[in-house]
Amino acid sequence: VIVGLCGSNRVGSTNHWLLDAASRVIGDGGFVVYDGIVSLPQFSPDDDDEPPSTVLQLRALIAAADGVVISTPEYAHGIPGSLKNVLDWLVSTTVLDQKPTIVWSASPTGGEFVHPQLIEVLRTMSANVLVGASLQLVGPRRMFDAAGILIDPICEAQITDSLHALRAAIAA
Ligand SMILES: Cc1cc2nc3c(=O)[nH]c(=O)nc-3n(C[C@H](O)[C@H](O)[C@H](O)COP(=O)(O)O)c2cc1C
Repeated sequence: VIVGLCGSNRVGSTNHWLLDAASRVIGDGGFVVYDGIVSLPQFSPDDDDEPPSTVLQLRALIAAADGVVISTPEYAHGIPGSLKNVLDWLVSTTVLDQKPTIVWSASPTGGEFVHPQLIEVLRTMSANVLVGASLQLVGPRRMFDAAGILIDPICEAQITDSLHALRAAIAA
């Protein structure tokens, strides 16, 4: 299974809609969007060895994942804190080790700052980041209809190619 992590907790998040679109591209339950970000506690090294059950569930989900897709906005030229909190809970584990991972940065500017930062963080955590298959998506809002369905054919082709590259890396 491929796991999607979203950098935005906003209702009507375009990044969440991108992950929903990925679910439809992959189909057959092969893509699940992690929905526990808001119930995770703030990371503390004091709790790293005996974390709460929400963290254990997150770690088990990522450990069992064949690949990971992270879709995120850019906040003040950086990684949204809630997403960085998720990643911080994984640093001391090996769940991302060599895990095929792609990053989609979707914001008005295409996330020119967050994109390389997130790739650097993931590489530091030993993920197998597929940089060539990762995407900077400029102005995602116009790519969706009012119901959050992806209606932009170029974006649809981009995320489909990106997911195919992820699947190829998983199969390799
Ligand atoms: C606190 C905050 C800071 C932001 N900072 C940036 C920024 O530095 N660069 C940028 O391109 N967009 C910035 N934005 C705009 C978001 O990237 C944009 O609204 C994005 O589409 C939100 O993604 P979402 O639809 O998934 O919530 C910021 C938005 C918020 C709420």
